[in-house]
Amino acid sequence: MLKRLDFDPPAAAARAQCIGVLDSGVGGLTVLRALHRRLPGAAMVYIGDVSHAPYGERPADEIAARCVALVGSLAARGARLIVVACNTATVLAIEALRARWPALSFVGVEPGVKPAVFLSRSRRIAVMATTATAASARLRELIDRHAQGAHVHVQPCPGLAAAIERGVLDGPELLAVLRPGCESIIAANVDTVVLGCTHYPFVEPTLRVLLGADITLIDTAAAIAERTASLWEQGSPRFETTPDIRVLSTGALGTMQLLLERCAGLEQVRVARLSEGVQKNSPSPSS
Ligand code: DGL
Repeated sequence: MLKRLDFDPPAAAARAQCIGVLDSGVGGLTVLRALHRRLPGAAMVYIGDVSHAPYGERPADEIAARCVALVGSLAARGARLIVVACNTATVLAIEALRARWPALSFVGVEPGVKPAVFLSRSRRIAVMATTATAASARLRELIDRHAQGAHVHVQPCPGLAAAIERGVLDGPELLAVLRPGCESIIAANVDTVVLGCTHYPFVEPTLRVLLGADITLIDTAAAIAERTASLWEQGSPRFETTPDIRVLSTGALGTMQLLLERCAGLEQVRVARLSEGVQKNSPSPSS
């Protein structure tokens, strides 16, 4: 059962208990969309750390510090279950977050190596990810655990999450960012490609053009929503909430608003600026 956080929340907004979702920016909206589809009655608060995106080109300790600040903000807004809707933050910070907040439940997002190996007919897959995720020991462990002898081509995609943050979702600029990585993936002769960054589903149509229509793309958002729902539904009646979705950005609002309007079920949600800023000193955890 989920336990109550034992600190004095600073804001009146902390009254309602909800699911907290975080990402470096707009990418986690692909997970929020799946969460809302699976749990339409659950209140959720999303923070996109737009002023620090992209995470994938930043040092690990900086990403971990940002995640601590974001989780502090989400907890202060009533979040009792946190979905780290960012592969980069999950691979680099989720263990530290779990250790710091033992009373919160966490669901992380990791590249879908296991389903990709299961679905691949040729037993050759690729993982597209940020530079930080691609270089992480955790991705290496994930591959060692689930590859079962399959060939796994890891493709870092520098600049791609940043382009999506700028609202570049198609056209020549996106093609220029995507083409080198896609050419390497084609040369690796794979039949299944893992979208190992929550930003990437937003450019799926262009990826299909570059990689070919026969490629299988793996996005784990629905599986993450299923896992979250099973944890949420284990909660006691005090976790029943009203369907209220709040979306906050630490930076610019434009791309986030644009993408919300393209996410089925979230079209009416308006993004707001996290005006008081993410807390520098997050509330002390207590078990
Ligand atoms: N959406 C994130 C991920 O899943 C982070 C992308 C970034 O900020 O570099 O990895």
